[in-house]
Amino acid sequence: MAKTNVKRRTRNKTPSSSATTSLASIHAQRRNRLYKALGGTPLLLRAAPEVLRNGDVHFSYRQDSNFKYLTGFDEPESILVCMPTSTGYETHYFVRPRDKEREIWDGPRAGTRGAIREYGADHSYPISEFWDVFGKMAGDIDELAYPLGSDPTFDVQVLRHFGARFTGRPRRNQGLPSFVDPRPALHEMRLIKSSEEVDLMRRAAEISAAGHRVAMSIAEPGMYEFEVQAELEAVFRREGSPRNGYDSIVATGKNACTLHYIANNAKIKKGDLLLIDAGAEYGHYTADITRTFPVAGPFSDAQRAVYEVVLRCQKKCVALCKPGTTVKKLLETSWRELTKGLVELGILKGSIDKLVEKKAFRPWYMHGLGHWLGMDVHDVGAYEDRSGKPMQLAPGMVTTIEPGLYFANNDKKVPKEFRGIGVRIEDDVLVTKNGPDVLTSGVPKEVREIEELTSIE
Ligand code: GLY
Ligand code: MN
Ligand code: MN
Repeated sequence: MAKTNVKRRTRNKTPSSSATTSLASIHAQRRNRLYKALGGTPLLLRAAPEVLRNGDVHFSYRQDSNFKYLTGFDEPESILVCMPTSTGYETHYFVRPRDKEREIWDGPRAGTRGAIREYGADHSYPISEFWDVFGKMAGDIDELAYPLGSDPTFDVQVLRHFGARFTGRPRRNQGLPSFVDPRPALHEMRLIKSSEEVDLMRRAAEISAAGHRVAMSIAEPGMYEFEVQAELEAVFRREGSPRNGYDSIVATGKNACTLHYIANNAKIKKGDLLLIDAGAEYGHYTADITRTFPVAGPFSDAQRAVYEVVLRCQKKCVALCKPGTTVKKLLETSWRELTKGLVELGILKGSIDKLVEKKAFRPWYMHGLGHWLGMDVHDVGAYEDRSGKPMQLAPGMVTTIEPGLYFANNDKKVPKEFRGIGVRIEDDVLVTKNGPDVLTSGVPKEVREIEELTSIE
């Protein structure tokens, strides 16, 4: 790289042996794998920007999952660049420099020294030097791995930077570099969780399960949904989760039929079912659990009948989460099981095969069976392989299994006793060579267990 007069720091050749170094080495291994998968193309990735919410208040900051996965770095205003060298590549971090004044307001920063010592950079620079340094090190590149489209504000800056190749008196007649999207390779990596990732997901699941158990045991008629939410999330925070993986859904009675209900401001009535879909984040990995339970138990006959249909389907699909099962097989199993249940409940009539073929279940089961889970709640990773065939489960994948039935309270096609009932049961399942490992088994789902936990003495 050309010499610059910026405040560049470079790694000392003797590595330290702290715990952060071993974390740093995990991130370095990920960068190595990605860099190889990209065939040695230079890589540029920016941290999540801070986003204004209203006035001068920002949304709470959460690092971009891909950036975190490759660097471990949590701070905004940071950029990762990997540049080829004669023997491989070097990692350059551009970060907020240490600043006594700013740190009084915003808290400590790793700074350029920390980026090297704790986060495995080979070279680091103040973020303000980015365009100058990047311009010199990447001045003549013909190809750049950069996720064009994911950060439009930065895209404009990147395009303007390379567009300047045509302004003034260009040295070479060189167009813009070709942009290669690093995300397919990156997302393929993120789909298979390593043992370190599984440990974090297991902890996120345990914390979330603890919150759900408390919610089940304290919910009472007369409480507002947000009060139950507060108790649930208090457990998440006390157990070490800094934030939720997504907004909690706490839906009493018919609100459960609004799939992404997050108002959480209704009063819970006696005899209501309460559907809670909530997951704590831990180490930037999230759990995603749904339980539906009778407030202060037990289930009414109609509620139990619907619940048992969903539970039977959910357990059957969980049992299929082993290597080789396709996501299509899982989905079709849920269609068949819920269709059988709808016939048993007297809502559908006719041959199961024909009803499934017609997707007659659609008015009451309108979402998919599940999704990949990881750093993002709807995690990255394809559902079809490169040849367009449904993805087969493999060890290290984590999927949710979350069938549901929702009967709106004005739905004339279902018997009266079922109207206003919405049930979803959702677990997080790690695929192992020995079969499914249900990370969220710490929260009950059997009728008897739920009634024990929810009943008031
Ligand atoms: N919590 C969102 C979902 O279950 O997909
Ligand atoms: Mn889910
Ligand atoms: Mn969910």
